[in-house]
Amino acid sequence: MSTSAESTSHAKIRVGLIGTGGIAVYKHLPALKAHQDRVEVVAAADVSADRLNTVADEWQIPGRYPDAESLLAAEKPDLLVVCTPPVAHRDVVIAGLQAGAWVWCEKPPMLSLAEYDEVAGYEGAAGPYASYVFQHRFGSAAQRLRRHVQEGTLGRPLVSVCHTLWFRTHEYYEVPWRGKWETEGGGPTMGHGIHQMDLLFEILGDWSEVTARAEVLDRDVETEDVSLAMVKFASGAVGSVINSVISPRESSYLRFDFTDATVEVEHVYGYDNTSWRWTPAPHRAEDTQVVERWVPEENIPSSHIQQLGELLDSMERGQRPRASGDDGRRVLEFIAALYESAETGRTVTRHDLARQGTYYTGMHNPAHVYRLQRPTSPAVQGATHG
Ligand SMILES: NC(=O)c1ccc[n+]([C@@H]2O[C@H](COP(=O)([O-])OP(=O)(O)OC[C@H]3O[C@@H](n4cnc5c(N)ncnc54)[C@H](O)[C@@H]3O)[C@@H](O)[C@H]2O)c1
Repeated sequence: MSTSAESTSHAKIRVGLIGTGGIAVYKHLPALKAHQDRVEVVAAADVSADRLNTVADEWQIPGRYPDAESLLAAEKPDLLVVCTPPVAHRDVVIAGLQAGAWVWCEKPPMLSLAEYDEVAGYEGAAGPYASYVFQHRFGSAAQRLRRHVQEGTLGRPLVSVCHTLWFRTHEYYEVPWRGKWETEGGGPTMGHGIHQMDLLFEILGDWSEVTARAEVLDRDVETEDVSLAMVKFASGAVGSVINSVISPRESSYLRFDFTDATVEVEHVYGYDNTSWRWTPAPHRAEDTQVVERWVPEENIPSSHIQQLGELLDSMERGQRPRASGDDGRRVLEFIAALYESAETGRTVTRHDLARQGTYYTGMHNPAHVYRLQRPTSPAVQGATHG
């Protein structure tokens, strides 16, 4: 996008889409369509020509390219939307920034903090910027709760719970890039719980230390399939985190206990206001209107649509979008520290985070092998998977 003042408010933002797989079709193309008064998808690229043509036909996308570089050179889009597997994020995002496009890239942002910082080095002082998909920040209830915390309406934050208890089948891990450090960057901590943890920090602010454990209990993966962590926040609050892909009743659950209220959200892959529960502490409960004043008036679900809308606003104003720069880095820092703690058995403080070394250039120490804990006896396996 031209960041100059002459960029007209009438011209549509020209979008290039890289990767036309599951998330592109289920979330990004519908989100782009929802904003069709502001954007135009001019081209798409995918390494799979069949996949590209099927999706481009269905969504009437005119430009079709085998890779990001040729799309960028021919189409010069204002915004590049990156929906490739994680291993390709770095190269595609850098190519986009170098071509002058703003970038919106799927999670996990990058495979390491080193990659994240390298990519940030290609941003311009006034754009283009790279931002990342964290759609759960953008629903009305989360935005309202964030304001309450900033204004102190609910009292001091004390205790929090952050659970991503999801279920991914053995077949899910047959896709070659999944369950591997090199291509996915981690297990459920990096690939699934990242959304809930990002929202946890969005609401409660910076974390200061983490003590964690990560195991592989049932899936044939290189990474963990469950992790647990105790967190301390800069505010003094504490929290407990679980990230799992082996939990049959799926739940994404966050709970925030403040001195004056408990606020909870339970959903699986997306929430609206009805997913939230606001409970006043006994000393606030006499005021029968208090919850009515706390909850948001509008009901905006968490969604790619909402985040994209805010990103387009930022582009039009030429301002750094949310979920970019330091604000996009925080959850990745936490994940690196979580793995470091789980693998070394030590508590890791935010202060310890280095700009070099094993957990900067990667998320994991290759010398640490996650051993499958599942009993291999056929009788027990049958009982487990029958
Ligand atoms: N935000 C969310 O809720 C959410 C949900 C699911 C997945 N994701 C993320 O979205 C990304 C894609 O996941 P998916 O499930 O759609 O995967 P997918 O495998 O279904 O699709 C990826 C597509 O990218 C293509 N591709 C691979 N390398 C490429 C390259 N270098 N250039 C162009 N195309 C390339 C593949 O051919 C494929 O069509 C991942 O980063 C994943 O973590 C986010």
